[in-house]
Amino acid sequence: MAINMTFPTSKINQLATEYAEKAPRDIINFALQQFDNIGISFSGAEDVVLIDMATKAAKKLGKAVQVFTLDTGRLHPETCQFIEKVRKHYDIRIEVMYPDKEKLEAFVAANGLFSFYDNDHHDCCGIRKIEPLKRKLLTLDAWITGQRRDQSPDTRNEVPVMELDGTFSTKDKPLSKFNPLANWSSEEVWQYIRMFDVPYNSLHDRGFISIGCEPCTRPVGPNQHEREGRWWWEEATAKECGLHRGNIIAKTSD
Ligand code: ADX
Ligand code: SF4
Repeated sequence: MAINMTFPTSKINQLATEYAEKAPRDIINFALQQFDNIGISFSGAEDVVLIDMATKAAKKLGKAVQVFTLDTGRLHPETCQFIEKVRKHYDIRIEVMYPDKEKLEAFVAANGLFSFYDNDHHDCCGIRKIEPLKRKLLTLDAWITGQRRDQSPDTRNEVPVMELDGTFSTKDKPLSKFNPLANWSSEEVWQYIRMFDVPYNSLHDRGFISIGCEPCTRPVGPNQHEREGRWWWEEATAKECGLHRGNIIAKTSD
């Protein structure tokens, strides 16, 4: 039986230490056992491995898997096609969250469609990603993300396998956050994709490693870090859009 609201959030750091070296599969299994109201945030990239692992674990537990994605309106067509492919492949429901229409229209009217190149990306990400994410997270007790430490040496090298979400928990409602892939390297993710024949975004065959919105993502060259393909015109330490703002807060409070 799921513990849900009685999950010991005060002990989450202790549990994170206990699970620090466990396999992603075990962490997902633990998360699904603890929470009924838990959702996977799927970006349409290699975090598809979370869905593969979770659907297998959920089947054994007799549970359904909740998956959501944030459609910013600026994703590559390949990413949209991939999300649909995943939905059909795993026979799951994928909830698509959209930006608030009025806020987005007002923002674009005032700033145009490419303001992120002149200013920075945070205002656009705020409307297209963060607000819809916040809306979704308010309905959940816990979420699962595909964050990995090796994705960004500047902001993610301390990501724990589970944590109390310091950004999206509210006064009345703690939100637990699971990062089952925290310890995995990109290579391990790709080994899993190949070993279990997991479907993947066709952009990966064209040099894209980290995939976000189309205007803010580009393929990387040999020996470039995957994060260099995201918001390439900005400082490495700014390369968080706010979905995982806690990473920046944790770094700056060192
Ligand atoms: S981002 O913050 O820089 O955009 P990144 O692309 O590294 O994030 O992805 C890390 C994790 O954040 C993903 O595995 C996923 O859990 C979540 N995420 C990122 N983008 C989205 C999205 N568009 N929809 C849902 N989840 C997302
Ligand atoms: Fe806007 Fe780029 Fe952020 Fe997407 S990644 S929401 S296009 S600034």
